[in-house]
Order: sequence, then C-alpha cells, then structure tokens
Amino acid sequence: MTANATTATPRTSGLMRRGAAFLGTEHAILCGAMSWVSERNLVSAISNAGGFGVIACGAMTPDLLDTEIAATRALTDKPFGVNLITMHPALFDLIAVCARHKVGHVVLAGGIPPKGSVEAIKAFGAKVLVFAPTLALARKLLRSGADALVIEGSEAGGHIGPVSTSVLAQEFLPALAEEHVVFVAGGIGRGEMIASYLEMGASGVQLGTRFACASESIAHPAFKAAFFRGNARDAIASVQVDPRLPVIPVRALKNKGTEEFTAKQIEVARKLDSGAIDMGEAQLEIEHFWAGALRRAVIDGDVERGSVMAGQSVGMVTKEEPVAAIVAQLMAESETALTRR
Ligand SMILES: Cc1cc2nc3c(=O)[nH]c(=O)nc-3n(C[C@H](O)[C@H](O)[C@H](O)COP(=O)(O)O)c2cc1C
Repeated sequence: MTANATTATPRTSGLMRRGAAFLGTEHAILCGAMSWVSERNLVSAISNAGGFGVIACGAMTPDLLDTEIAATRALTDKPFGVNLITMHPALFDLIAVCARHKVGHVVLAGGIPPKGSVEAIKAFGAKVLVFAPTLALARKLLRSGADALVIEGSEAGGHIGPVSTSVLAQEFLPALAEEHVVFVAGGIGRGEMIASYLEMGASGVQLGTRFACASESIAHPAFKAAFFRGNARDAIASVQVDPRLPVIPVRALKNKGTEEFTAKQIEVARKLDSGAIDMGEAQLEIEHFWAGALRRAVIDGDVERGSVMAGQSVGMVTKEEPVAAIVAQLMAESETALTRR
C-alpha cells in the first residue's frame, strides 16, 4: 500500500479498508470482468493502478485461460481475479487451471454455483466471490462457503437482473454488510456514488462500463467511439417480444442489431404459430441470434450488428484515459463527497 495515495483519500480508504484487505489491494475498486475486454492488458493495468482486475474467462478453453493468467502475471505482481461462468461445460477444469496458477480470487458468475464448485475453489486457498439476485440466496451462498458477495443492479452493462442497484443496496447492505464483504456494482460512473454505497456499508464497488474504454483496453476504436457517443438512454435492455420465447436481458447500446433482434423474435414467433418450426427450434434461433456478437463489437469493431454491451453510466465515459487516471478521479470524487458531510 502506498502511503501517499491512501493519505490523500483518508475517508474513502478508511471505508474501503475491509474490502481492500479482502482483495489485497490499495483501493476496494474492482473492474468487473468483461468478456473480450478484460484480458491481460486491462486486468494488469487495473491491478497496477491499485484496483482489482478480473480476467473474463467467458467461453475460453482451459488452455486459453492458462495462457491468459500467465500473461497477466507477467504484467503485474499485484493481485487479480478470474471470473468463471457457472454454466461453462469445463467449469471444473477451469477451476483446476486457477488452482495451478494459485489464483487468489475466483468470481463465479452467470448463475447459481454448481455443487462442489465453491468447495473446489476454496480447496486451493482462493477466495470465492458470488452474485446473488435475492437476499435469501445470498444468505444461503454465504452460509455454504462463499467469501464475498457482489450485488449488481439493472443499470449495469451486459447480462442483468430486473432490480436497480439503489434498491438492491437498500435491501442487501443493511442486512448483510456488517458481517460480510459486499461489493456494489451497476451504474457507478463517479466517486460520489461510491461514497454513498460505502457509507451504506459496502466494502467496495465494481465498475465495468467506466473502465471499458481506458487507454489500456484492447477494445476496437469503433467500440470506444460508440461509448463516447452514447448516452444513458442509448444503453437499453434487450426486450422479449413473445412470452414463449425467453430472452435473457442484456444491456447494450441500441443499434441495427438490437432492432433486428426484435424483428427476428416476431419472425420466429410467426413461424412457431404456423407450425413451420417447433418450440425447441424456435428457442435455438433466438439464442443463436447473438452468438459471437460481443466479440464482433469489441474485437472487430462492428458496432452496428455486434453487441455493444454498456451500462447506463456510458454517458459519463467521454474520452480515452489511462486506468490510473480513472481510479484517481473516482477516489478523489468520493473523498470530496465524504469531506463535505
Ligand atoms: C462489455 C461488457 C462485458 C461484460 N461481460 C461480463 C462477463 O463476461 N462476466 C460477468 O460476470 N460480467 C460481465 N459484465 C458485467 C461487468 O463485470 C460489471 O459487473 C458491470 O459492467 C458493472 O456495471 P457497470 O457497467 O454499470 O459499471 C460485462 C459488462 C460489459 C459492459
């Protein structure tokens, strides 16, 4: 911990003490894993700036994850985590890769952790962070071994639940934050907001959108330009058109792809009505629509038909800045807010 940084923000750092100790960082600010974006460069930059970077494993194979962890280690000697999607078919092999690399923190995302997964992670000494959509499930996961909780509201970019961060914070923090480490995510663009959640008992915060276009992010210039142009109202949740055809809500910048997705759902519902396809085929058509779409946006720069996942805080992302400058600004804004009180 550098004395200078924390003495410049004593109130914020004081409220972040528990979260920072849990993460092994200077600041309790996580950059949430973003598939295709959160790779070695952004992750190491976040950790080198005193925050906590998290590799997005996404659909990577165990071999690719192995390479990514090693490459990240080569760029930072600070702690970072790995985000694993619970429904990945090779989840336990991915956990084994994390074990081989002695990863200190694993984030389990995308659903309820399958039986044995939390235990398998703890067996090699790592801490487990989980998401929970309800207080009852949060309590259950914490009782059964999870070390910390991330609550993420519907303002966030990417896959979202139905409840806003402000409401989740009011439900979860008074109930859990005294005994447990809880990080708040979704819609955080400035330090004043961080100050509020810390005052409510959060141990720290997680941001994605605010970091996605940092100088160190490998996202395509066209992806970054779409963020700089985008306003809060452009970051919309995907809409389900037909009750028979489930759509997992994703928040992304509206574009030709999001329009075509609505049209696609109507077309598939009509084919289902006419008997041209059965329910299984219909649901597959819907699921397949976005296959590879985040990669197309982030890596290829196709911001018209790719999925430009972004949270509502996108309007506060106006230019490319180094991660260290973003972290310093967030800490300074939080400190100013706490000093005013
Ligand atoms: C482009 C993008 C990709 C994301 N991919 C993932 C992912 O692969 N796994 C995950 O758990 N969360 C993912 N998220 C969510 C972030 O980790 C983070 O929780 C979220 O961005 C926080 O909310 P904010 O965007 O309002 O800051 C993604 C978010 C964005 C913007």
